[in-house]
Amino acid sequence: MQFFVRSGKPENQKTDCAVIPWFDARSQQASFKALDKACGGVIAAAAKQGDLRSKPGQITMLTVPGKGPCRRILVAGSGKKKDYSRKVHRKATAAAAAAIAQTGAKSVISYLPVTSADQGQAIALDTVAAVEQSIYRFDSLKSKSHRQKKPALARFGIGLPDRSLQVTVRTTAQRAQTVAAGIRLAKDLGNMPSNVCTPRYLASVARRIANRSKKASARILGPAEMKRLGMGALLSVTAGANEPARLIVIQYRGAKAGSKPVVLVGKGITFDTGGISLKPGQGMDEMKFDMCGAASVLGTMQAVIDLGISRNVTAIVPTCVNMPDGKATNPGDIVTTMSGQTVEILNTDAEGRLILCDALTYARRFKPDTVIDVATLTGACVVALGPHVTGLMTENDSLAKRLLVAGEQAGDPAWRLPLMTEYGEGLASNFADFANVAGRDGGASIAASFLSRFTKDMRWAHLDIAGTAWKSGKEKGATGRPVGLLVQFLLDS
Ligand code: BES
Ligand code: MN
Ligand code: ZN
Repeated sequence: MQFFVRSGKPENQKTDCAVIPWFDARSQQASFKALDKACGGVIAAAAKQGDLRSKPGQITMLTVPGKGPCRRILVAGSGKKKDYSRKVHRKATAAAAAAIAQTGAKSVISYLPVTSADQGQAIALDTVAAVEQSIYRFDSLKSKSHRQKKPALARFGIGLPDRSLQVTVRTTAQRAQTVAAGIRLAKDLGNMPSNVCTPRYLASVARRIANRSKKASARILGPAEMKRLGMGALLSVTAGANEPARLIVIQYRGAKAGSKPVVLVGKGITFDTGGISLKPGQGMDEMKFDMCGAASVLGTMQAVIDLGISRNVTAIVPTCVNMPDGKATNPGDIVTTMSGQTVEILNTDAEGRLILCDALTYARRFKPDTVIDVATLTGACVVALGPHVTGLMTENDSLAKRLLVAGEQAGDPAWRLPLMTEYGEGLASNFADFANVAGRDGGASIAASFLSRFTKDMRWAHLDIAGTAWKSGKEKGATGRPVGLLVQFLLDS
């Protein structure tokens, strides 16, 4: 998709489709009067017939007769004029783009309102995100006859009231497209089934990402190196699998050598059966998404590299399959983590924390400024927060604030959940230093508390994306979250 900005009068802009807002009061902008006139009065006629809807997300497509500047006008419900917000704009843009993608229109100019510079940036960001989202398809594994026709839509314009915002909006839209490509990569990886997206596949993607810049390099470790490093927890998760585990490291050097990196750690379970603590069959297919943390870290690295941001960023992705087998880990088995602490594995389905704890210990060798792990870690987080916000757990208030603000700005919000030592009390074990599970209640914070035993003295935050990384039901598919949040965080702080 190509994005562009236009500040000329709507009635003078040639396009396949003009998008205009429709507010619930009768106070339509006068500027569309001229457009309407040039288009044979279709807007006024539709309004008179009562065809136009004003609720955000509602749309009406009008065909323009004769030789108007545009072939179609899409009227996008925009709510009350005084309540127009980013949320409304996102909803209206997404609905408009989805409807246009069903038509033969190749080019669009959207005249949804842009008022200030701040809002212009947000609008540019959201427009790109919403349009890219609504044209995204994952159909490479369908045979040709089962594929939907590709949308004709190729050029999306943001109409501005004057020239003053052109540069801001254009620059932001450009950046947003690079972020959108990272989001797309994260979605594609998430959506791929586990017989395609294996740990070795993720490693090959990581190498490709690192090859995009001289400032980036990838290193891939296998089971032998993991053993040498003493990663007993990570290895215990992969014990039953035929696919070999990988520890992926990408280093991006955007700043001088001495500058401490932000380290991103992504959970990369390419399929989570639960292991010997086997999951029930219902909906188990969705555990192919258990590598969405890894996918978001890889998507973020691609965006970081393509944006050429001026700081050092390191990605660590522990990736393997969690499988039952004669060689698999049994409940009650005790392993020694890379940190030296021993863990009694009471439930082999709490495997995410086991691969993450060794990856977090490994992160220490990079002398990080900040460590952020991203993981589809707990069903409890889904119960607590649902699908709208990512769970954020950290003991560091300033880091929490930065991440929350970044999420808000990127339209990829997080919500803070508690993290305090009390949540770890239930992890006590009679046989090892501690167990990998405690009770059911407060499970997201218990998991975070487990991880915190491996991040002492590090500036660290944990993002539980179990609810936000993918959608279930008819819209089943990866969301690419929290690439938006992470890139925004890296750009801003
Ligand atoms: N990958 C799952 C978490 C998950 C479950 C994410 C459902 C999204 C939807 C994780 O490995 C897991 O199985 N966690 C267990 C932990 C429990 C055994 C303490 C869970 O949440 O049930
Ligand atoms: Mn599990
Ligand atoms: Zn899992």
